[in-house]
Amino acid sequence: MNARTVPAETVRKSRGVERAVAGRATADGAGVRLTRVLTQDLQRRLDPFLMLDVFASDDPDDYLAGFPDHPHRGFETVTYMLAGRLRHRDSAGHEGLLENGGMQWMTVGRGVVHSEIPEQEEGRMEGFQLWLNLPARDKMSDPWYRDFAAAELPRFATANGVAATVIAGASHGVTGAVTRTATAPLYLDLRLPAGTAFAQSLPAEHNAFVYVHGGAARIGDETVPAGRMAILANDPAADGVLIEAAEDARLLLIAGRPLGEPIAQFGPFVMNTQQEIYQALADERDGRLG
Ligand code: CO
Repeated sequence: MNARTVPAETVRKSRGVERAVAGRATADGAGVRLTRVLTQDLQRRLDPFLMLDVFASDDPDDYLAGFPDHPHRGFETVTYMLAGRLRHRDSAGHEGLLENGGMQWMTVGRGVVHSEIPEQEEGRMEGFQLWLNLPARDKMSDPWYRDFAAAELPRFATANGVAATVIAGASHGVTGAVTRTATAPLYLDLRLPAGTAFAQSLPAEHNAFVYVHGGAARIGDETVPAGRMAILANDPAADGVLIEAAEDARLLLIAGRPLGEPIAQFGPFVMNTQQEIYQALADERDGRLG
């Protein structure tokens, strides 16, 4: 898909950086090394987002084990692959290959058992998995799944040279691959050449963060280096965010409407109450999950 060129937007007053977070090195699945950037202690602050994992490695030992069959219930997963090949299979009968620049959106709903296994034995594996909460009324909905190849993801470029991939939501008049009503997620992958800036309007009550994965970005008087997540302040006077790049920068800008509902998480299950977690565990035990 050719990127449409659109006029750059402006914001009257930009949000600032409330806090920059480095995340925590961890392992998941059968031993995949990754960095959990949005950790459980930030779920309330960044509601409706529950988790952001970043994996980036040239060493096959870091990723070869993959993520064998495991269950989920109660939220959505968004997996965006910059490099590498990952095969997805799930109990709802979906199968797909996630690769270079592609994205997979899975609404887990009442339950899915899935696996994500690398289809490469060498080379680079790099990508992100974001967990987006579902409102209470949708947590037991039917599972939904879709793969988008890189060429299917909507893109645009601003007149000043910033390139954007719109994974979710809408930006500069371009609607993304997926939209959701309750949480209204905005998920942009942005490339800012040195000396450019990008303005994005954001509803003041939406929670928002930026994850820089290449170069460095400037927001207000704060420089955010690669590997850091900047939580953007919820400033009632701000109408969006202005991101500036003194050097080439590559980053994710993610925002959404908080649900304001109780969050009960146990591993791969995210519900509203402890009772619902016990139910999920019982359903998993009895094979009713996927
Ligand atoms: Co999973």
